[in-house]
Amino acid sequence: MSAESTQTHERPSEAILRVRDLVVAYGKAEVVHGLSFEVRTGEFVVMLGRNGAGKSTSLCAASALISKRSGSIEFAGSDMSGASSSAMVQAGLIHVLEGHRVFHALSVEENLMLGTWASGRRGDRSRLDRIYALFPELAEKRHQLAARLSGGQQQILAVGAGVIADPRLLVLDEPSAGLAPMVITRILDAVAALCREGMAILLVEQMVETALRFADYAYLIETGRIVGEGRPQEIRDSEALRSVYLGHHATA
Ligand SMILES: Nc1ncnc2c1ncn2[C@@H]1O[C@H](COP(=O)(O)OP(=O)(O)O)[C@@H](O)[C@H]1O
Ligand SMILES: [Mg+2]
Repeated sequence: MSAESTQTHERPSEAILRVRDLVVAYGKAEVVHGLSFEVRTGEFVVMLGRNGAGKSTSLCAASALISKRSGSIEFAGSDMSGASSSAMVQAGLIHVLEGHRVFHALSVEENLMLGTWASGRRGDRSRLDRIYALFPELAEKRHQLAARLSGGQQQILAVGAGVIADPRLLVLDEPSAGLAPMVITRILDAVAALCREGMAILLVEQMVETALRFADYAYLIETGRIVGEGRPQEIRDSEALRSVYLGHHATA
């Protein structure tokens, strides 16, 4: 056990999301082979792994956006193994998909307000100020069409539209893909602030070192299996991380 891990607290005992023995296939091709992971109450969890490892597939199956072959999903203490994606949303799981998906023909603020429809807070404008405080670049452009934002700003808008629903668990699939390191850190700082306020976070991220700086706990995935898990320091020092990224410049 590393020095850092002996100094840190135990993982919280209660899980907000518990995925067990998840198996997912596209047609006949099984790509997730019995994967188990948890996000505990108030945790910032990161999922690492190279392209094609099965991270997005696992997240989509956990939020019921795609169907699974087998496995169980528990959310906030309830068995949600057979639940629909809208039931997951209603229960408090918001999944911001890979690739910044915003409505180009709507304004920044209209995009954010659409995010409130994904929750019990439909049309509630009271959280706009919180989003604008977290992401001042959105406040400045609130009345502009999303189409006029830069790629990075659209990604921030997609995260904002997820956050505005005030989820119990916010799932972020590579929100920083293609962004400059400074913008990535800005997004993750904002997400970490939400986590400190009690929102659990499950983040997929390619920038390993950056992600581990923010994480309470990390999972390492390779070809549809968990090949390592632990505290950031344990993962950083692990043979599994070296073997997954051997010869690949995915760390930053
Ligand atoms: N819609 C799809 N149809 C068929 N195969 C897919 C589909 N989406 C992903 N895959 C395959 O599933 C595997 C896992 O992909 P994915 O979950 O997107 O990985 P990651 O998010 O870790 O990059 C890859 O081999 C990928 O090619
Ligand atoms: Mg992916």
